Amino acid sequence: MIKKAFIFDLDGVIVDTAKFHFIAWQRLAASLGINFTEHENEQLKGVSRVNSLKKILEWGNKEISPELFQAKMDQKNEEYLELIETLDVNDIMPGVHDFLLELKKQDQPIALGSASKNARPILEKLGIKDLFQVIVDGTNVTKAKPDPEVFLCACEQLGYSAQESIVFEDSVAGVQAANTAGMISIGLGEQDILHEADEVFSHFTDMPQDYINTLLSKKK
Ligand code: BG6
Ligand code: MG
Repeated sequence: MIKKAFIFDLDGVIVDTAKFHFIAWQRLAASLGINFTEHENEQLKGVSRVNSLKKILEWGNKEISPELFQAKMDQKNEEYLELIETLDVNDIMPGVHDFLLELKKQDQPIALGSASKNARPILEKLGIKDLFQVIVDGTNVTKAKPDPEVFLCACEQLGYSAQESIVFEDSVAGVQAANTAGMISIGLGEQDILHEADEVFSHFTDMPQDYINTLLSKKK
């Protein structure tokens, strides 16, 4: 039986936390007198906390002291954690749970490849942490997406090559990371934004029947 490494991004793929990251960053930016919209936010998806704040400051043409920079990152995370406090199994994106269970049934290896330092507690809140054999998150890597480090670590830990790996991503940076690694990239979101992905779906529920089998024989 063919096996592939199935690697999932978290925010915006497994759970709709992308909107909470956006709200928290928008509040933070406003506290610095910087205005930013969903358009710029698209460029923050998949991007680490530290690099996100750097980008926001660049857009606002602002420089702040290292102390204030750290304080603002902490403030953003506190607000974000408040926003996600009540997350539970009902917040899993449509079709994701069934897709993961089907992979498990077929004994396919599953990993998480996320930039977030909050990934483990979020998976616990959703009650699906045990479905992942390997978790690589923002606490394990030094290079942020679009660098492929997070996905390369995930496939290596599962014992598969990049060519045997499939990545599910909602961000441009994440799709680019998967492509750079030579992995198959499946975008979740809008075709216009994620056009660099090998295939794009709005949701897991839009994938054709038996799509896992299609993926198992898919070549980059
Ligand atoms: C990514 C999100 O998954 O994680 C980004 O798409 C976020 O929006 C990044 O900034 C880092 O997350 P956290 O939880 O460590 O601040
Ligand atoms: Mg994401």
